[in-house]
Amino acid sequence: MKIGTYYYPEQWPVDQWERDFDNIARMGLQIVHMSEFAWFSMEPSPGDFRFDWLHKCVDMAARRKLDVILCTPTAAPPIWLTEQHPDVLPMDRYGARQRHGGRRHYSPTSLALHEATTRIVTRLAEEFSSHPSLIGWQIDNEYSANYFDQNAHCHAAFRAWLQRKYGDVATLNAAWGNQFWNQYYTSFDQILMPPERDPEYRNPHHALDGARFWSWAFADYNKLQADILKAKMPAEKANAARPFITTNFIPFQLDVNPVEMADDLSLYSWDAYPVSGHGRDHKDEKFRIASPSSIGLYHDFMRDVTGRWGLMELQPGQVNWSGVPVLLYPNVVRLWIWTAYAHGAEFVTTYRFRQPRFGVELFHLGLVGTDGVTPSPGGRQFQQTIEEMRRLKHMPTTETVAAKVEENLPTLSSRKLARRKREAVVEVSTQAPVVDRSFVPAEVGLMIDFDQLWYFRTLPQARRWDYSRLLQMWYAAITRLGMTVRMIDPKRDWPAGLSMIVAPGMQMVDDALIKRWETYANGGGNLVLTCRTGLMDRAGQLWEGPLAKPILHLIGANIEAYDGLPDDTFGQIEMDGQPYKWGVWGDLLFAPDQTRVLAKYADQFYAGVAAVTQQRFGKGVVTYCGVFSEGDFTSALLNKITQSAGLPIIPLPDRTQLLRRDGFWIFLNYNETPVDAPAHASARFIIGTRHVEPAGVAVWE
Ligand code: GAL
Repeated sequence: MKIGTYYYPEQWPVDQWERDFDNIARMGLQIVHMSEFAWFSMEPSPGDFRFDWLHKCVDMAARRKLDVILCTPTAAPPIWLTEQHPDVLPMDRYGARQRHGGRRHYSPTSLALHEATTRIVTRLAEEFSSHPSLIGWQIDNEYSANYFDQNAHCHAAFRAWLQRKYGDVATLNAAWGNQFWNQYYTSFDQILMPPERDPEYRNPHHALDGARFWSWAFADYNKLQADILKAKMPAEKANAARPFITTNFIPFQLDVNPVEMADDLSLYSWDAYPVSGHGRDHKDEKFRIASPSSIGLYHDFMRDVTGRWGLMELQPGQVNWSGVPVLLYPNVVRLWIWTAYAHGAEFVTTYRFRQPRFGVELFHLGLVGTDGVTPSPGGRQFQQTIEEMRRLKHMPTTETVAAKVEENLPTLSSRKLARRKREAVVEVSTQAPVVDRSFVPAEVGLMIDFDQLWYFRTLPQARRWDYSRLLQMWYAAITRLGMTVRMIDPKRDWPAGLSMIVAPGMQMVDDALIKRWETYANGGGNLVLTCRTGLMDRAGQLWEGPLAKPILHLIGANIEAYDGLPDDTFGQIEMDGQPYKWGVWGDLLFAPDQTRVLAKYADQFYAGVAAVTQQRFGKGVVTYCGVFSEGDFTSALLNKITQSAGLPIIPLPDRTQLLRRDGFWIFLNYNETPVDAPAHASARFIIGTRHVEPAGVAVWE
């Protein structure tokens, strides 16, 4: 895995560039990421292209044997474009245009934007595609918007999309349930792009299609750029050596469903800012470390779309944008880099090399300070991890000069860790079997579907419902048992041989998905479905018939009713004599005798009613978890299911992960207490020891 950094030469004096590149190379970094947002520097007026400065920088990188990722600069359209074509700027529901300035001030459906984009991306690709140091293109930056654009071009594009989808207005009226409150349309021309995802008292099916169209519009804009970059790819390079094409996603960003770009991107990447200060649980210091399941889930999601992924931005220190400038836990940046390695990343790059002196992000830390030479605590962890990775025998042992690392100076991190060691923090003992050479983790498919995310946002029904939290809970439960997650999409191919499939909250289903679940379970698979599955068709309409009608034969139970509790209120369920909490959503299940009841409600007027059921289906087993639980229940339930299915598991301590890459075991500790690595007695440790420090890592063969 290569490690690199963002560098914005256009933001620094030209006479410092050589020195900055020297220091990038000295720190052991292997990739430089450039030209993001630099549209004005490349084209200060229409058609006046200036690439000399960028050629100089790419050559400076090449002379130091640094690989280069270049970006199309479209996330920040220049002033001449928005001045000439104000409708590049998105318009809100009140007809006010977003002002020029900052970034992301464009609507993806603007024709003027498409034309200007075609010109700059074509010229950029012509200049740099064949450069031997170029390893990849990043298109744009973090697709997202403040609202659904209300410019005339956006309404028109939405109508054209609807026409392609429905063919005629009568079909659209039926799909949107327009008989409700007599919302009939008689022509596509009458339809407007919704102003936002919340329909208020308007039409939720319309809002859902708005979300789908909006994601399509970004994917279409992305395709415009990807097609140009592909067409300009150097013919002489074999496929594998060609620069990858990616864009960097924000996790669970509603504006784009990443999967929609699968045919256009050869590599997937995302931006990880695990400790932004947004966490609410401050009873201990875990908010300085972040959660391995929220990070791991997105790593695996990115990995499993095309099979290639990289971590484009990794937070190197405090950020400027959250309003809570939480200082990171000692050594946690190193832990995050190892986490990306363990999940199979091709590279990790960080935003950014030098902390900026000006602009809205001037409080954002980089690998070095504003002086360009003094490593930040995060910068030192990057250096340390780069050094450590060279110990993995397959890694190239490039020469390194860690000149600027004041290794012997006490740092905040080393002081704090020394103190923690003296305090002899109580150990979390794994009590777990150790992994031996023969252990092959079971592969579990976890289904993710942005369609559901959008509709939950439009019609939440339960205010506490949180689809991404539900996914993360199941992800955490799977990985806590040492199993491997494969993120699967309801409409794309699934890997063969999955030991289990967990499909949380698949509220909208179609016949094809039901068939795939049936076939999987029939063939001996372990299928796990949860509350809010199968309630609706893909138009977002309920069935004529009982709740969750199309899955009732799969789960072997009826859903009599559901309950959702007020904020901060929790009910109890019981499984194997143990009490657990729930609050967001609970289905009341009634099942015939041949269906097993795994958990029951333990309080409220319906105490004793089933909350989780299981039945045999063909050669397989289907478990239905009717509660959105809290705390440990999901883990306990999954443990029970895997035990009865006889799947190989390694129960791990909470907030740890065990993964395998290149023949190494990697154990990640996201706790502020030490834990023991589940390594077999003859394990040869390459990084760390069996005793894994707080926010520590162990790697063994
Ligand atoms: C990212 C963005 C970067 C930078 C960074 C600051 O979301 O892609 O350009 O703004 O946040 O944390």
